Amino acid sequence: MPIMKNSSKKHEAGTTSVSRLRAQISRLKNEQERLKSLLGIARNLSVEMNLDLLLSKIMKEVRFILDADRCSIFLLDENSNELWSRVAYGLQEEIRFPANKGIAGHVCRTGEVINIPDAYKDDRFNPEIDKKTGYQTKSILTVPMQNRFNQIIGVFQVLNKKNGKFTKENEEILTAIGSIATAAIENSLLYAEQKKSFTSFIEALSTTLDSRDYITAGHSRRVTLYAVEIARLMKLDPEQREVIRYAGLLHDIGKIGIPEVILLKDRKLSEDEYEMIKRHANLTRSILNKINFMKNYRDIPSIAASHHERIDGQGYPDNMRGDDIPLGGKILAVADAFDALTSRKPYQDRIELDKVMEIIERDTGKAFEPYVVYNFKFIGLDKLILILEYGHTHEIDKEELKILENHTLADIIEIRTKSIKTENELEIENIFMRYYLRQYRIK
Ligand SMILES: [Fe+2]
Repeated sequence: MPIMKNSSKKHEAGTTSVSRLRAQISRLKNEQERLKSLLGIARNLSVEMNLDLLLSKIMKEVRFILDADRCSIFLLDENSNELWSRVAYGLQEEIRFPANKGIAGHVCRTGEVINIPDAYKDDRFNPEIDKKTGYQTKSILTVPMQNRFNQIIGVFQVLNKKNGKFTKENEEILTAIGSIATAAIENSLLYAEQKKSFTSFIEALSTTLDSRDYITAGHSRRVTLYAVEIARLMKLDPEQREVIRYAGLLHDIGKIGIPEVILLKDRKLSEDEYEMIKRHANLTRSILNKINFMKNYRDIPSIAASHHERIDGQGYPDNMRGDDIPLGGKILAVADAFDALTSRKPYQDRIELDKVMEIIERDTGKAFEPYVVYNFKFIGLDKLILILEYGHTHEIDKEELKILENHTLADIIEIRTKSIKTENELEIENIFMRYYLRQYRIK
């Protein structure tokens, strides 16, 4: 019997150490999994520049790693001293509250980590967001997000641990993720800031150009609006549309190198003068080539410089043919021609729409890429009026725009050829043509 007792004890001891070992292995495995997730977050986050996507990614990962029901990131707006979150709680609208309010406010102010199992028993808890969203907060873990200068840029919050309460280990993990996320968020905010200043610089250049040439006031802006709309109808991706937008704003920037006496001449140009005007396309390229565009925007100079190329090779400055011309350049060519034909001049009202379309049709396949013209004709009449009347849009009746909404340029061309028109067709034609032929001239 004693022998049996001993062996049973030994067996028990053996089982205990095996299960301890197993527990240790499982802990190590969990640790490894967490480490892997952390590395995954670091890798993923460093390449995401869109702030909303970045925040969504972080929150999704954190919920998974910490087994929490919800995760939100509140960023500090130093100007208004508020904490804000755009994608918290699955809401579309932005949530904002004073940066000294609630647990998030406390963490933001003090830099403390707050881990409480029952939010409603803590005086610092602000139940307003729960009231707004209908959510019931129970456990809550909030850590500060500190940048490398030890400044708090916001707070990270996870809610309602699925099993039990948030542990000390959870606090450490969330703090670690907070540091990675802070760097990524700061990068993306900096990128957005740089992009904003880049855009305003381009727009300022474009406005300067448009205001110099009073004959074609607003031309660059309208060409851009047409071109971006054509690109959208052609289903080009948002990045390509952005490049076309910048190229549109800058397509005539070379005109700053053309003497005003020629540029602003309101009579027929001599051959020499015309040759001089033509130089603006090459000048556009030389000027834009001096700008150090980011990688995604490298095609802007070549697209902008090719807006006078023709697919039959008779254009300028390079006599490019067909597919040698960048697609953006072909789009700008149609937009540029349509605006030149339809814009009001100080000495002349708009040319009749039928005449404009006759010219565009005549040059399709010679100057213009047929597929671009085909797509352009699907531009909505409401959008078309808003672009044609750019600068005078406050004088447009919104109800009338709504009536035009589901009809296109192709429709109005067709309606105008009909001898018998339905009541609806007559209404559309009347509204559109009334705006198109409004009698006022630019000063
Ligand atoms: Fe031009």
